Amino acid sequence: MEMEIKKQKSISAAAKIIVQSRYTIALIGAGLSVESGIPTFRGAGGLWTKLGEPPNNGYENFLADPKAWWEQNLNSEVDPERTQFREAIEKAKPNPGHLALVNLEKLNILKHQITQNIDNLHHIAGSKNVTEIHGNRIKLRCVNCDMRWHRDEFDQIRLDWKQNLPPKCNTCLGIVKPDTVMFGEPIPFSTLNTCVNETRLADCILVIGTSATVYPAAGFPREVSSSGGKIIEINPEETPISEAATESIKGPTEDSLPKLVAEIKGIIGDDPTS
Ligand code: APR
Repeated sequence: MEMEIKKQKSISAAAKIIVQSRYTIALIGAGLSVESGIPTFRGAGGLWTKLGEPPNNGYENFLADPKAWWEQNLNSEVDPERTQFREAIEKAKPNPGHLALVNLEKLNILKHQITQNIDNLHHIAGSKNVTEIHGNRIKLRCVNCDMRWHRDEFDQIRLDWKQNLPPKCNTCLGIVKPDTVMFGEPIPFSTLNTCVNETRLADCILVIGTSATVYPAAGFPREVSSSGGKIIEINPEETPISEAATESIKGPTEDSLPKLVAEIKGIIGDDPTS
């Protein structure tokens, strides 16, 4: 009971900070999608906890022989853990945490979401101002010009691509890869630029369901706090960001975020134009 009272006090305090802030953004991690059935990467049951953290040369190996990479990935039976992870993502639906963020965006409280998640659930939930810093699993991207396609759209444009590997960009003939950022792959410049600009504008950052261990994303909260902004963390566990957080809501996002929205509505009312 005491934990619940403490959590509610944190939610109330966080709501006040957010309402008083000029420009609130969010940095989001795998914890937000746990309630949608997608395991995290680290911690109990995490994909990397089971498989080990991948080496940092994934992108280097891809560039060394993109044809072989595509042949292997189009035809291989990946290990059961990865298959289970992929199946969980395929059937996942947005949860109350995603919908709470849509709500905060509609209230003109949440200005931008930087998500590390590749599961596309923010878009399915209805969020508009989202930057996918680690890409989106349903897209392909040209490594040369950053042109992106929905997978299905690409299949329409390049019917023959699976017979002519690696797929090439029909604009600049660059090599095409999954949009998901590989280990060792630089974040596409335009994506990183948007994240840096949003972080510079923010005077409050919600750090939601992330272990805050993978850079450059993990650096954004301290960017905000170093310019006087506030950090509000929502995570059942401690992370390297927790000590710098103005407020820490120690609870799962699927429960905490809807309560935070209710608290904010209690302060400003339901009408964003009020
Ligand atoms: N609600 C909120 N947070 C949760 C919940 C939940 N229901 N369940 C777990 N968490 C928290 C964990 O405590 C942990 O801090 O979510 C975090 C998940 O951490 P990671 O598995 O490391 O996921 P993430 O931070 O998104 O990883 C960053 O690492 O491998 C790369 O590209 C991958 O984007 C990913 C990046």
